[in-house]
Amino acid sequence: MHVAMIGAGYVGLVSGACFADFGHEVCCVDKDPAKIDALNRGEIPIFEPGLAELVAKNVREGRLTFTTDLTQAVRSAESVFIAVGTPSRRGDGHADLSYVYQAARDIAAAIDGYTVIVTKSTVPVGTGDEVERIIREARPDADFAVVSNPEFLREGAAIADFKRPDRIVIGTDDERALSVMNDIYRPLYLNQSPVLAMTRRTAELTKYAANAFLATKITFINEIADLCEHVGANVQDVARGIGLDNRIGSKFLHAGPGYGGSCFPKDTLALIKTAQDHEAPIRLVETVAAVNSQRKRAMGRKVIAACGGSVRGKTIAVLGLTFKPNTDDMRDAPSIDVITALQDAGARVKAYDPEGMEAARSMLTDVHYTKDAYDCANDADALVLVTEWDTFRALDLRRLKAALAEPVVVDLRNVYRPDEMRRHGFTYVSIGRP
Ligand SMILES: NC(=O)c1ccc[n+]([C@@H]2O[C@H](COP(=O)([O-])OP(=O)(O)OC[C@H]3O[C@@H](n4cnc5c(N)ncnc54)[C@H](O)[C@@H]3O)[C@@H](O)[C@H]2O)c1
Repeated sequence: MHVAMIGAGYVGLVSGACFADFGHEVCCVDKDPAKIDALNRGEIPIFEPGLAELVAKNVREGRLTFTTDLTQAVRSAESVFIAVGTPSRRGDGHADLSYVYQAARDIAAAIDGYTVIVTKSTVPVGTGDEVERIIREARPDADFAVVSNPEFLREGAAIADFKRPDRIVIGTDDERALSVMNDIYRPLYLNQSPVLAMTRRTAELTKYAANAFLATKITFINEIADLCEHVGANVQDVARGIGLDNRIGSKFLHAGPGYGGSCFPKDTLALIKTAQDHEAPIRLVETVAAVNSQRKRAMGRKVIAACGGSVRGKTIAVLGLTFKPNTDDMRDAPSIDVITALQDAGARVKAYDPEGMEAARSMLTDVHYTKDAYDCANDADALVLVTEWDTFRALDLRRLKAALAEPVVVDLRNVYRPDEMRRHGFTYVSIGRP
């Protein structure tokens, strides 16, 4: 199978490399020449565990190529995946579909023979209809189908998620397109990943419903954590106590600084907008989004309170900048709100992150970036753990205490044990634990 992957970002590059690894011939297209040049030099423009090796192997074996020339890639493809970004539109929070529609126009001009065009980007209900209309209008003669195949991979575990997905969702009414999609994903049947065929609109909505549900679960436990702090209960025990109930499940019940990243914030907003437009507002998700966006800055206030009510003139060390570990993705990371709140209150901020500092530098300019966790802690008046990278999970507590000017630790991921931290002489604040 010849596959063209339009967009070589977090989703396109991982999907393209995995499809190539299944044995397909994949050409990844990106309009960013710097990205394609880097890939052609053997450099991976993003950090995703295992991706460099997977890309190198499939390039070496001749199944994976990179180009800026969409026409060439699409012309020889039986299926064309759209994996371009769908960020929040400035001003109103709707999904910005301009990249998707541009890709559709570019694809329309290039298709040759029966082609299945697959939207892998997260797109609002009805986008597939519009993509189909755009292509049909540009090429009334063309033989094609437009399918929705939303992606559920998680950054940081993207390859494993792609190769062993909980399910594959395929939205189409076109039998011929469904059969092509089944051929593309056939290697996964061995892993018995369920393939759910449904209508295109249903598939589009399924992706938003999944992300909104997960965002709700996180926000729920975050608010329970706040209550725990007021009543002297322990949110980790509550989470275990409810999570072992199979109807609830234990995942996504870790209280923290609020969800961030490239998906949940923008996808909850887009779902809210779609629902309002269709006069079926989802008040629950509206509340989740509002609670979450206030929470991130509130974490800055939590740090200020731990520092005795003021951080003016103080130095705060921040460990972890990316929105979660094992990625370099800084999009909508809670660290941005926490750091900005601290700076607004007059603090100087030092920070360290194993992979995110390059991306962070352009977003958080007034921050002193350090070479490791201890360098970051050195002479700081408090240390805030924002992202739970493995390397922050077993810090040498004696060394940390000696490095800090004041032994104040605010652990926004509940990585450490309160009793142990107090025994080491820290003033320790975490989320929802006495
Ligand atoms: N990142 C995730 O974890 C994740 C998970 C599931 C779904 N998604 C969805 O997948 C989509 C892509 O997300 P991402 O994180 O990979 O985005 P990204 O920004 O990392 O990558 C998008 C890429 O598309 C390229 N591009 C844009 N328009 C193009 C065009 N017309 N032709 C060729 N290339 C073009 C950009 O240059 C960029 O490299 C989004 O809709 C997102 O919501 C993301």
